Formats: sequence, C-alpha cells, structure tokens
Amino acid sequence: MKYNFDEVRNRLNTNCIKWDGLEEVFGIVDKDILPLWVADMDFKAPKCVLEAIMNRAEHGIFGYAGGYDTYYDAVIHWMKHRHNWNIKKEWIVFTPGVVTALNILVKALTNPNDKVIIQSPVYPPFFKAVKNNGCDVVSNPLKFDGRKYVMDFHDLEKKIDDRVKLMFLCSPHNPVGRVWSEEELKRLGDICIKNNIILVSDEIHADLVLKGHEHRPFPSISEEFAQNTIVCTAPSKTFNIAGLQMSNIIIPNEKIRNKFLNERESCGISRPNVFGIEALKAAYEHGEEWLDDLLVYIEENLKFLTKYIEENIPKAKVIQPEATYLVWLDLRELGLNKNDLENLIHSKGKLLLNQGYTYGEEGEGFVRINIACPRSVLKEGLSRLKKAVYTHI
Ligand SMILES: Cc1ncc(COP(=O)(O)O)c(C=O)c1O
Repeated sequence: MKYNFDEVRNRLNTNCIKWDGLEEVFGIVDKDILPLWVADMDFKAPKCVLEAIMNRAEHGIFGYAGGYDTYYDAVIHWMKHRHNWNIKKEWIVFTPGVVTALNILVKALTNPNDKVIIQSPVYPPFFKAVKNNGCDVVSNPLKFDGRKYVMDFHDLEKKIDDRVKLMFLCSPHNPVGRVWSEEELKRLGDICIKNNIILVSDEIHADLVLKGHEHRPFPSISEEFAQNTIVCTAPSKTFNIAGLQMSNIIIPNEKIRNKFLNERESCGISRPNVFGIEALKAAYEHGEEWLDDLLVYIEENLKFLTKYIEENIPKAKVIQPEATYLVWLDLRELGLNKNDLENLIHSKGKLLLNQGYTYGEEGEGFVRINIACPRSVLKEGLSRLKKAVYTHI
C-alpha cells in the first residue's frame, strides 16, 4: 500500500464532533472515552486534496464562489469513471450536505400531512427530514434473518396509500451495510412508479463498496427510473471532507429539479464554499488511488474486527457490511434494554458507539461501530467493548 492509514492523529481541539462534540451531543464530559461513532474517518484526507486547499488558501482572497464548470466536469468524470453512469451537467445541483438536500426535497415534493417511506433501521436524519417538514414517516422495516437484511416488499405494498408521495432509499445502506442488488432495486423502482412515489436515493456511501460487491446508481437502471429519482451523492464520506460541506444532488427530471431549485433558493442557499469546490475537484480527479488503498485498509480492519469478536466476544454478532466503514453489531444476546446497554458501553467500556435504537426501534440491542480509524485505535476500542461485555456477564 502506498498510503499509511496507521498514523494516529490527535483530533481533540479541532472542533470535530466525533472527539470534541461529546458534551454537546451526549452530555458526556469524560475525557477518557474513545469515540468510534459518527461517520467520518480518523484519517487525513488525500494529499491531492490537502494541496488543493492549501493552494487555494495561498491565493488569499475568499470572495463569493461562481463559475462552476470545472466542478461539474469533475462530478461528471467521477460518476462515469467510478460508477459507469453518464450524467449531464444540468442535472447536478450542489447543496451544503446531503441532509440539507433531504430536508429541501421533502419541502419541495410534498404537502403537509403527506407520507414518506423509509426502511429502518436507517440513518436517523431520514426520520427528522420528514418530520421537520410536516410529513409523517411510514416505516417499511428491513427484514433480518440473523445474518443479512433484505427489503420487505410485501410490507411496502401494504403500507402504500394516496398520502405517500416520497420514499427515501439508503443505497448502500447505513447502518446495515447492504449494497442492493439490481433485482432488489428494480422491484423497488417498479413499485414506486406504479404508485406515483418519487424515489430519493441517498448514495453518499456509493464509493465505499467492499470487494465482491457492485453499487448500481438507481437512475442508471432505466430511463423511467431516472425520471422518477433524485440521487444524493458527495465526496464527503469517501475522502473524509464532510466538514467542507459539498454535495452533489443529481436530478435528471427537469420538473423535479426546478422544484428543488426553487426550494433551495427559498432557503437562501445559492453558492458553495470555495474550499469545498477545490477539495471535491482534487478528490474526484486525483484521489482514486488513495481511495483504493483506503478500501483495502477498511477490509483489513473489518477482518480484524470479525476475528476479534469471534474469538473474544462471542455474544456479539457481526453483520458483515458489503459497503461503508460502519459495522452493525448485534448485541441482543446480552439481554439488556437500550438504556442499560448504552450505559454499559459508556461507563464500563469508556467507549462511544452509535446506539442501534437511534436508527428506529428495529435497531434496539444493536450498536454501530466506525472502523475508519488506525488499527491500533480499533484494537483499543474492541478491547473496551470486551471489557464492557465481560463486566455484564
Ligand atoms: C446515508 C447518509 N446520508 C447522509 C449523510 C450525511 O450527509 P451530509 O454530511 O452531506 O449532510 C450520512 C452521514 O453519515 C449518511 O450516512
């Protein structure tokens, strides 16, 4: 490997939520806690990105952004090159984050009291984006056979009524790590078309697909699907630049796109951050080699975690992810309620993981661990988890 992901960087006092935000988010003031939660990485962004930001900083003038052709070219290049997906410049709309886009989409494409379907357990801001904007969440829980999660199409069709206007798909799925097959996506897309439901496909994790799996951008399946889909993408997870707040929302359907643009305008969002543009361009144009090495390191971390848990914490079950650096662990065998499980991990393990219940009630008894950290840090995190579990049993 050309790149070194073993280097431990101290992130304290960098205004990062993962390490500095524990009091703000969880009310935790304990400085001994090891945080392996929120979905960003403890790795430096690729050198090409750092250089691009430093070059831009060197220029010294940071007035309003404008003239985005090179930004569009970089996004078009990446989607074609990495995902074999041909997109047009006019389909791309930037937002300062995918969560911003999800909220704007609900505003733009629903009326109050409409319903939006989501597949829980799922990324918590999906629930919030729906509720924030006056709609009701319809949960179509994923089915779990103890090893793998699949979509429940029967339940989905049963829950659709005239009030359902939108569906949020997480593809690949956070937190369960599925990369949906083309067959699953086709079946879902057909149900949406048949019932006049617009599909929002959040593909922010699409670049982080692990060996043996292939991500399919939803609109690339058919023109009919393309016209009914909004795809949320970003370089933020892939290259660890979430704090630069740059995401690309891809909307082939002109009518839907105009509604989205009007709503974005009404929120006063019109221009990206100049550093975000530079970082995105550098990452999409020169970051691929780094990404390929990163994925090898993540795979190795996943193997390490799987072996460690099998050998040391047999009461925990690893749900093998097909994508992302987030691993969903089944701790239901411990027989603890959600508060006791959370307390055990915090106070006995001195470890901070995302608690499964925050992803919907189906997540109770599970935790999500972020393995995008140096292996030595992961090892320490797992030994803390082991300690917590053994304090209980
Ligand atoms: C599925 C999903 N969508 C969106 C986001 C966050 O996107 P952003 O930081 O661009 O708002 C995350 C972050 O974890 C995520 O997992």
